[in-house]
Amino acid sequence: MWISFAGIITNYKDVKQFLVQKGHKFRSDTDTEIIAKLIKHIHGLHPNYSFRELVEQVIQQLEGAFALCFKSMHFPGEVVATRRGSPLLVGIKTKTKLATDHIPILYSKEHSKLKDTQSDHRPHGHEIPAHGLARSQSTSEFLPQGDNKEVEYFFASDASAIIEHTDRVIYLLDDDVASVEKEGVLKIHRLKRTLEDTHAREITTLKMEIQQIMKGNFSSFMQKEIFEQPESVVTTMRGRINFDSETVVLGGIKDYIGEIRRCRRLLLIACGTSYNSAIATRQLLEELTELPVMVDLASDFLDRNTPIFRDDVCFFISQSGETADTLMALRYCKQRGALIVGITNTVGSSICRESHCGVHINAGPEIGVASTKAYTSQIISLVMFALMVSEDRISAQPRRSEIIQGLRNLPDQIKEVLELDSKIQEISKKVFEKKSLLVLGRGYNYATCLEGALKIKEITYMHSEGILAGELKHGPLALVDKGMPIIMICTRDNVFVKCMNALQQVTAREGRPILICHKNDQEPQKYGSSVLEVPKTVDCLQGILTVIPLQLVSYHVAVLKGCNVDCPRNLAKSVTVE
Ligand code: M6R
Repeated sequence: MWISFAGIITNYKDVKQFLVQKGHKFRSDTDTEIIAKLIKHIHGLHPNYSFRELVEQVIQQLEGAFALCFKSMHFPGEVVATRRGSPLLVGIKTKTKLATDHIPILYSKEHSKLKDTQSDHRPHGHEIPAHGLARSQSTSEFLPQGDNKEVEYFFASDASAIIEHTDRVIYLLDDDVASVEKEGVLKIHRLKRTLEDTHAREITTLKMEIQQIMKGNFSSFMQKEIFEQPESVVTTMRGRINFDSETVVLGGIKDYIGEIRRCRRLLLIACGTSYNSAIATRQLLEELTELPVMVDLASDFLDRNTPIFRDDVCFFISQSGETADTLMALRYCKQRGALIVGITNTVGSSICRESHCGVHINAGPEIGVASTKAYTSQIISLVMFALMVSEDRISAQPRRSEIIQGLRNLPDQIKEVLELDSKIQEISKKVFEKKSLLVLGRGYNYATCLEGALKIKEITYMHSEGILAGELKHGPLALVDKGMPIIMICTRDNVFVKCMNALQQVTAREGRPILICHKNDQEPQKYGSSVLEVPKTVDCLQGILTVIPLQLVSYHVAVLKGCNVDCPRNLAKSVTVE
């Protein structure tokens, strides 16, 4: 048996205990092995079941979030794949056109109750149909037209994994069971018909280019994605901002703007980097929408059973669109009648599909586990949202205008920041052997501190903390001495004086911070051990320019330490489990 598995089986101990009682021996402590042993067990009891029927029996016993793909020597030339809570798609490659652009769902006609005599293969009391499942017949041939019937199928969690082979995909839904049988026909089955079911799965044509997912001359995807930001921010804005008329239209939410303006409050819910993008834009959203804005980590939001009302507008920000905590928070808010707005980078993802409306950030595929270009595009998407909501406020026009012109200049300014790369590499050589790295700032740059520290710990395994400079005196100042590496962000905005104050507190304790400040700004520079000068932009966009040096620091430190930049230990790109 060959199984490709992503996710987590939460009841694997119960299933394992059951299988051990039945005499199965285990070589590992993994949840993958219990799946293999369970299918073997059911095959032993029901040798006449087809491969797909066996998989259907298996997944009825499993709890958790998973995407699974099975092959077996007992069923040569066949593949069965299924998902629940984890993304899974099927890529289709043919020489000629397909006879159809959708594939119908085949449903079970009957569910027989498990007979007492067969109850021994129920790990925890679920029903397993005793007989092979009767199916309605497919009404359309899912095969290429013409004589050449050759067809290849690719099963993957993410479209970027298969784009080099085909651009035609089917996104499977939870509990779909896709099977390719000997004759090469793909079928999609479901055990039960529900009211919400659409009775077919569409074949989608991907708009992704192959070069978007190749590393090119870069040593890692993360490095490539950092350097793509002058272009990715442009694609996020393309077709949405008219810089001359200073108007912003987000097609995915324009029909809901009235409802949003009348709402009780905005809630921004996300995890990790996506959460940091909410922190980065909260202040501007408060200013331009004049609405209360709550920002929450999805896991904490769920732990608190937060009260949600019908007139709340809830934003779910997620690069992958599949993060389990964010998705569960979305479902929680949807059940309570709130308007659901998805901000994602992945077309067709669960968050995308389950939202009432939303914005695709259009940053292009992000492969490195560490999120970089998605972060800057998430910020821009939320800024565009704030601009759109405030379009009818006369008093907000000067502010809107400065932000829109700031956005216009951003790509060139990002290029300027990227020119700091070799200087940052040199600075990284001074800190890569240290144990810890503090990142200090406040106001709009606080999100940069959180995001910079997250990048550093994630890919360099070095301890790093993003600290609000206003909190220094309340504890973190005790950490400061001449040996503690510190990066401090000090740009000219409404908290500049307060930042200078914090800087002096640090240097008074012999701290010699690496400074990120505006070009040619002498005042803070005299306190820095090294200085990284970034161009000045509007306060609410400044975080886009100050975060890039930190993305580069984390990248160079990781390389110097010999860490795997794109695939840091213990982490996954899409966190599809709680
Ligand atoms: O796909 P999402 O944006 O929902 O992912 C949320 C976090 O898991 C993610 O941002 C994570 O923090 C990044 N790997 C950080 O670089």
